[in-house]
Amino acid sequence: MSEKVIKKTLRSMEVLKGFIQIPTNSRSELIGDMLMPSNVLVNGMPGRLDKYARIWSPFLKGKFSAGSRVQINRTQDGYQVELVTDEGKSVVKTPAKSENRTNESERVGFNGLTPKEWTQLSKSVWSAREVSSAREWYHLKHGATFSVALAERVIKMYTKEGDLVLDPFVGVGTTLVAARNLERRGIGIELYDKFVDLAKEVLGQQTLIEKPDQKVICGDCRELLKWVEPNSVQLMFTSPPYANFIIRSIEDRKKTHKTSRLVFDNKSVVKQYGEDPRDFGNLPYDAFLKEIKALMRKLILVTKPGGYNVWVVKDCRDPQNGRPFIDFHSDIAHIGKKVGFLYHDLIVWDQNEQRSLVLLGYPTVFYVNINHTFLVVLRKPQEANTKASI
Ligand SMILES: C[S@@+](CC[C@H](N)C(=O)[O-])C[C@H]1O[C@@H](n2cnc3c(N)ncnc32)[C@H](O)[C@@H]1O
Repeated sequence: MSEKVIKKTLRSMEVLKGFIQIPTNSRSELIGDMLMPSNVLVNGMPGRLDKYARIWSPFLKGKFSAGSRVQINRTQDGYQVELVTDEGKSVVKTPAKSENRTNESERVGFNGLTPKEWTQLSKSVWSAREVSSAREWYHLKHGATFSVALAERVIKMYTKEGDLVLDPFVGVGTTLVAARNLERRGIGIELYDKFVDLAKEVLGQQTLIEKPDQKVICGDCRELLKWVEPNSVQLMFTSPPYANFIIRSIEDRKKTHKTSRLVFDNKSVVKQYGEDPRDFGNLPYDAFLKEIKALMRKLILVTKPGGYNVWVVKDCRDPQNGRPFIDFHSDIAHIGKKVGFLYHDLIVWDQNEQRSLVLLGYPTVFYVNINHTFLVVLRKPQEANTKASI
């Protein structure tokens, strides 16, 4: 195989953590058909190429200084990284104040994205394929989780490396896994210790990438001010319980949908989280919304001015109780505005590809299958008065 050589200037985060991000325009030369992630040798030592095209190795940690120019050669088994020298002297460049990337098209935004990456992530409708990743063993033990890929996408959009991400209903820790993968700090709160234990186990399993601060707290998110500093969170990302609709839908399925394709075709593993009265999933909808409002008053305090809160919610139905359609995402947006957030964006996660259609209401009343979920994006105003009372 012919040797490919690429030069690049190292950023401080790369030097600190011990990785090299392969520049986008050099990926075909340096990666080609190599699988990502995969184990590689870096200067003859064990290393890893991760799925974001970053080369990791203990060899790289603190080896060069920020602003150094290195050359990366693709070898038979991996990579060779060397300082670029000029007649035997190291060439150590101080990066320009604005950014050390040279190419105009690689200038970074507040979240570290290039204009191209930014544009690609800015679709308003996301397909199931774009934001799905395998349901891991720990997801199956919970039953109401989202994918790591979904959390990663949102974290990439609204945060940069080192920022703090909060999930007040963290379940088995998917948000924290994604935050860790992207080198963001994370705090997650979860009521039941059975889920907290799983989250800790999952986070403890990660080895090669040095673990930035990921905290899982067992407790009631109503008390979040005990654990989270005011104005510290760049992104709150969560999927809350859906009031007591899980309990209702389980009962409903037992009674009405015994032979329905819903349970089987959609591979539903939904179950009640537990019996704790503090569980938002055990509250009737109106009481639930009151509690969400009280929680949001605390969330706006801990969010940084200009930071984001993203709620993953699905509208639902409760026809047995005279509510054919519950506009959950609008209620969340409405409460958000009441407590002082700006309604910033609404993203649709199209789930048609991953869910089968079910016969609903036939033959008397026509309902559509709700095969999409919303991501309600709220933003704390830049000039917000964070001393507002709760
Ligand atoms: C929809 S699940 C979130 C799952 C999570 N996104 C994941 O991927 O693992 C909601 C979680 O909120 C938890 N929960 C309910 N009430 C809570 C409370 N008062 N404080 C903290 N967590 C709570 C439930 O136990 C459940 O695990």
